[in-house]
Amino acid sequence: MTEFEQALVTGLSARPRSIAPKWFYDAEGSRLFERICELPEYYPTRTELALLDRHAPEIASRIGPRCEIVEFGAGAIRKLRVLLGALDRPARFVPIDISGEHLLEAATLLRRAHPALEVRPLVADFTRALALPPAAGPRIGFFPGSSIGNFDPPAAVELLRHFASLLGGGGLLIGVDRIKDPAALHAAYNDSAGVTAAFNLNLWARANREAGAGFDLAQWMHSAFYNAPLQRIEMHLVSRRAQRVTIAGTPFDFAEGASVHTENSYKYTVAGFQALARDAGLTPAACWSDGAQRFALHWLTPEPAAAPQR
Ligand code: AVI
Repeated sequence: MTEFEQALVTGLSARPRSIAPKWFYDAEGSRLFERICELPEYYPTRTELALLDRHAPEIASRIGPRCEIVEFGAGAIRKLRVLLGALDRPARFVPIDISGEHLLEAATLLRRAHPALEVRPLVADFTRALALPPAAGPRIGFFPGSSIGNFDPPAAVELLRHFASLLGGGGLLIGVDRIKDPAALHAAYNDSAGVTAAFNLNLWARANREAGAGFDLAQWMHSAFYNAPLQRIEMHLVSRRAQRVTIAGTPFDFAEGASVHTENSYKYTVAGFQALARDAGLTPAACWSDGAQRFALHWLTPEPAAAPQR
């Protein structure tokens, strides 16, 4: 069984049923996500890009000269280019992504635009242990897009700790979506063009392509809503009728209205995220946000060493 088939069988056997959002991103899912980022309702990408643009000089002065940037994920070429434009002689860029194809494409584009920059892509799952090459300068982490929101808070703390250990004393620039009017959040995940619905349903299309599953997409519906007590958008795929679907030889029965949880996207207040960062041993050193308080860019540094005991 492939890892994806295993994830489907395990996730659909569990109660509540759930599949991790990382399985959204095959070539079609990545393409749909890029379309989401252009949607009028999906404000995070535009807002973060504008924040980077506006505060690039200050961000660059916090980062300092000749740094090595490690990007966790590699979907943010436009954001990275804004940052690179402001940095003082960056030494190296290390994008880390599980999708080799996507990563190498991004690396090629970047080398063309910045011929003096050393680009060292690494095909790996950044949530797991990985070996980075010896640093070419002060190592800085970049984790934009509020991807941290796709991890539940304990896993987010773990991930930040993992990043801090990989950065070995360098800072982390991280984008985080803020808690806001639930109607604006709802619209961002229920766009009128139906792209987010297609992105969610692509999980079943991928299962049909790669795992020989028999999902009839017309019998499933996209559901996304803001769960205010848990401060997260939840996405689900909901069965329109009673049905049986076979995956890797295993039959799964779904009642009408049965739901499969496919993604959480946690939202944070500035103070809430800063507390999470502290739990991970990082110090919130700066934060930039937009006038409408939609999105925040946090600059986190390693905790200063404790004063010696006398
Ligand atoms: C990648 N991630 C931060 C996006 C989000 O907003 O949670 C994924 C996404 N899901 C639906 N729309 C966008």
